[in-house]
Amino acid sequence: MNMTIPQPTFYILKCEQSSPVNMPKPSCVNDDSRDLFNHMAQSLMQKGIMGPVQPIRTSCLGRCQMGPVMLVEPGHYMYVELTKEKIDKIIEQHIIGKKPVSKYLIDEKFWASPVEL
Ligand code: FES
Repeated sequence: MNMTIPQPTFYILKCEQSSPVNMPKPSCVNDDSRDLFNHMAQSLMQKGIMGPVQPIRTSCLGRCQMGPVMLVEPGHYMYVELTKEKIDKIIEQHIIGKKPVSKYLIDEKFWASPVEL
């Protein structure tokens, strides 16, 4: 039997870093943003696209001042200052519609081309 398992179409890496109290630097998870990952996962399940779309909890993605953030791959699309409404729009327009939501993407000055190795 020759059974192949397809790759996911998208990975969504959601920063789930929560800083300790009194930490001077902000983090992506606080009382206001704690349920964003579950909201996204539920939405993907309800739409029947969990699997082809793989949501992943990550630690810090290095853009804490603009949190909550998530990275959509392929393409290195970094979405910032997330809310449930923005996540819903990103799923509809970017994931299902294949058109990134440019107004929610990080400003280019904070997301220049990758460093050459
Ligand atoms: S804590 Fe989320 S990007 Fe740093």
